[in-house]
Amino acid sequence: MNRFDATPVLLTGAASGIGRATAVRLVAEGAHVFAVDRDQDGLARTVAAADGPGRIVTRAADVTDEESVVATVRSAVESLGGVQVLVNVAGIHRTTPIESLTVADLRQLFDVNLVGTALFCREAVPHLPHGRGVIVNVASSAAAHGNPYMSAYAASKGAVLAFSLTLAAELAGRGIRVVPVSPGTVATPLTRAVTPGDLDFSYYGRIRSLMGPATPEQLAGAIAFAASPDASYLTGAELRVDGGSHT
Ligand SMILES: NC(=O)c1ccc[n+]([C@@H]2O[C@H](COP(=O)([O-])OP(=O)(O)OC[C@H]3O[C@@H](n4cnc5c(N)ncnc54)[C@H](O)[C@@H]3O)[C@@H](O)[C@H]2O)c1
Repeated sequence: MNRFDATPVLLTGAASGIGRATAVRLVAEGAHVFAVDRDQDGLARTVAAADGPGRIVTRAADVTDEESVVATVRSAVESLGGVQVLVNVAGIHRTTPIESLTVADLRQLFDVNLVGTALFCREAVPHLPHGRGVIVNVASSAAAHGNPYMSAYAASKGAVLAFSLTLAAELAGRGIRVVPVSPGTVATPLTRAVTPGDLDFSYYGRIRSLMGPATPEQLAGAIAFAASPDASYLTGAELRVDGGSHT
């Protein structure tokens, strides 16, 4: 499959997990990927993992730094000759039992997960071609389903979902699609860092996929589909990729 032949793609969170797998998948399908992350070493490992026919260039940036996002999108447009697809994957997770929830946790989660996503959308939209432009924002199944001890994370992802659905309606007249993709549990460094400690995680037994956790590559496949011409009539609808864990 070569659905992205020389398609200019701007991708955040590309240094690890789902973002790295997405970069590898898109480059394998011919895309020209401008890969962004705050982790420069991780970006280098993504470049090493990517194999043509597309190509990849990287830039270290913090998605919460407004000036840096403005400069990054400008640099992507110059480097790629435009941007047709924006994929926002960068995100963080915190386990926050309600009794110990802090304002700092709330602000940090919203800053990275929502503000970072919103800034990249704001800066990229003027460059997206009408009729062909696509935005894929990674939300989470936690946005719409109860996940104990994740209230702040879930709220930030609920915000990403609502933001994306609104943007889809706002940009529909320009033929720019916006698709929120909501993973369930994916085996990445983000989930490996979640340990129950002395918290009661038994509820998670009820919402676990019988298929086990997804691989980052399975999410990359769904993101690539959402960004591709195969999904040309898909917009303003959440693509939930959770192995049936909430059915
Ligand atoms: N892994 C899961 O089970 C799961 C489930 C639902 C949603 N998600 C979402 O998928 C996305 C990717 O998660 P992952 O599991 O691949 O995690 P990951 O930790 O492997 O990758 C996240 C990437 O985002 C980058 N990042 C974080 N903050 C940043 C910032 N301020 N500026 C620039 N880059 C930043 C990190 O450096 C990292 O490379 C996240 O938005 C996450 O919330 C993951």
